Amino acid sequence: MTKKLNRRQFVLTGAAAGLAATTARLAAGQAPTVYVPRAVKPVVISSGNGHTRKNGGDKTCVETAFEKIVAGEDVLDALIAGVNIVELDPKDTSVGYGGLPNADGVVQLDSCCMHGPKKQAGGVAALEGVRTPSRVARAVMKQTDHHLLVGKGAQHFARNMGFEVEDDLNTDRSRKLWLDWKRRIDPAHYLDPLKREKYGYEAAQQMMREGLIDPEHFWGTINCNGINANAELCGVTTTSGLAWKIPGRVGDSPILGAGLYVDGEVGAAGSTGRGEANLYGLCSFLIVEEMRRGKHPKDAGMEALKRVRANTIEKRLLNDQGEPSFGLNFYIVDKQGRYAGVSLQPTDARYAVCTEDGPEHVAFDSLLG
Ligand code: GLY
Repeated sequence: MTKKLNRRQFVLTGAAAGLAATTARLAAGQAPTVYVPRAVKPVVISSGNGHTRKNGGDKTCVETAFEKIVAGEDVLDALIAGVNIVELDPKDTSVGYGGLPNADGVVQLDSCCMHGPKKQAGGVAALEGVRTPSRVARAVMKQTDHHLLVGKGAQHFARNMGFEVEDDLNTDRSRKLWLDWKRRIDPAHYLDPLKREKYGYEAAQQMMREGLIDPEHFWGTINCNGINANAELCGVTTTSGLAWKIPGRVGDSPILGAGLYVDGEVGAAGSTGRGEANLYGLCSFLIVEEMRRGKHPKDAGMEALKRVRANTIEKRLLNDQGEPSFGLNFYIVDKQGRYAGVSLQPTDARYAVCTEDGPEHVAFDSLLG
């Protein structure tokens, strides 16, 4: 797709899909489908890495997903094809292959997905060895009666479903960064556990200040949500989680209502940033409920961020002004195709959007800005 999807091309693509469906129905001796003008303009929204990574190809996540949605593919399949680009790109140290590992140097991945029209969902957590956890999450959704598989069970399921399971998803870069972190926090091997947690966080902050870790990759993640012209809404979130986490730690990403929530009749919301703050308030669910009550995506997102702010009272999580010191972002689209990206902190980071006007990076609306 060219940078700007030409409006004429976009309309023609939709018309061509309608014509193809009608021709097929006529050939099968059925009544022709009636072309109903669509009220919703398709949109795909994601975290900023959804329009930076290409994994050596020529399209980003949001471009790929949008193109597939407009061509009539299932919305969730289109979004997952988009985030696969980021999961497989070794340059993104926050997602999939080459994601920053846990404190033991092991890459553990979390993901979930929700299909609005089908009212189905699936997720995996602490999954090791599979580069594309979003596809395993979809397999949980499609092939099981369950919503969440974790750890060895998730890996066993993935193997049985035919996914390649690798011994190690580190790249040279993620392993080198882990070694650097380890050297900083564990020079004498065993510190007081409380000090160790404090030093671990400080060492990571220092690595961000030194430009070794992209601050956006500390909590990592891509969330990607989309809607097609039939107002069918879906979403997917996938991550390597918090860098250097305690092995087994699961964040918000694979948890329905936290890292992602989709109600096919209302809207979709998903997150990146400090998962623990989001888990406490199940903010994606909260945002969708606020939209159900009539709020615009931006106002619904702000409501959730205000809740996070009110719930953050521990001193270790506050800055000198008494405000939350961590980052948390939400990507939101409603049933009308209106969208917003909201962030707790003022930030130069941008989120990604693709509409019929093409892909772009857009500034967040921030609560503390
Ligand atoms: N939001 C990603 C995580 O906290 O794991």
